[in-house]
Amino acid sequence: MKIFVTRLIPEAGLDILRKEAEVDIWPGPEDAGPEKKEVIKGIKQADLLLSLLTEPIDREVMEANPRLLGIAQYAVGFNNIDVQAASDLGLPVTNTPGVLTDTTADMAWALIMAVARNIVQGHDYMTAGRYKIWGPKLLLGGDVSPGGSGVSKTLGIVGFGRIGQAVWQRSKGFNMRVVAYDPPLREFIEKTEGVAYRELPDLLRESDFVTLHVNLTPETRHIIGPQELNLMKPTACLINTSRGPAVDEAALVSALKQNQIAGAGLDVYENEPQMADGLAECDNVALMPHLASASRETRDKMATMAATNALALLKGEKAPNTVNPEVYETAAYQSRKRA
Ligand code: GLV
Ligand code: GLV
Repeated sequence: MKIFVTRLIPEAGLDILRKEAEVDIWPGPEDAGPEKKEVIKGIKQADLLLSLLTEPIDREVMEANPRLLGIAQYAVGFNNIDVQAASDLGLPVTNTPGVLTDTTADMAWALIMAVARNIVQGHDYMTAGRYKIWGPKLLLGGDVSPGGSGVSKTLGIVGFGRIGQAVWQRSKGFNMRVVAYDPPLREFIEKTEGVAYRELPDLLRESDFVTLHVNLTPETRHIIGPQELNLMKPTACLINTSRGPAVDEAALVSALKQNQIAGAGLDVYENEPQMADGLAECDNVALMPHLASASRETRDKMATMAATNALALLKGEKAPNTVNPEVYETAAYQSRKRA
């Protein structure tokens, strides 16, 4: 049995795979990914695909091999995969949920602190040799905790799933008021002590920090656009560690340039790895290259989870983290198993 891995993942995962299968890793450099035709070539010779979020896996790619037994994604997000097509074709798709919840919530907080307190700007100031004397007005930010005003700041959490909730837990130490928007979880939020449900416009009007923790779907694409940015306070900051297209990035750049909002902390971009024109020149941003799950421990665990999912699919078993579990009951899946 052979597994095609689109890019090098941590050894912890490869070790598990190699015990039970032949592992074929795309041989390109670590800072690049395979082109579509290379993914197709890899799939043709494999029984299973282990994919990363950088490779679009569309119907054409999946149709390249009728014997393929499934797709194990090394990520919690799977918007790079056409899951509907996978289900139609009888292909189970798995992801790595849960393991990166804390790590991603930590990054959202790192960005909240960085943007509020000018961590990036202060670092640049130091390394440029510009620090001459302590100054009462040097690089003033805004409080995250009640601080000087004595008034709790409001954290607006858009998307109250695992990661959104972990961000909320961390806010307790900062004595924040917390409001959340997530229509399918409305009842849960209303029953949860310490969080109040808000419709999105109200959340945007009230919040000092707006942080996004949504899956990318047609409903959440550009959930933050010009109108939404317009509702935010001029002192408020936007944080995005979810998926870039949740934000209309050109509208964000224009809001930042006009000081319509105070700042933004971004880990993801609408056309990754590109940034919208003008974003890099904004002085009120903290920008990260999609590092929210990038801790050594979490990446190892993601690799072992993806490998475990992959081996289950390879054996024709139901994998622990299947995002389209209904596929196991389909004739298309059964016929792949027999092929
Ligand atoms: C990272 O962005 C992931 O979805 O795991
Ligand atoms: C600042 O450094 C202070 O001591 O107030």
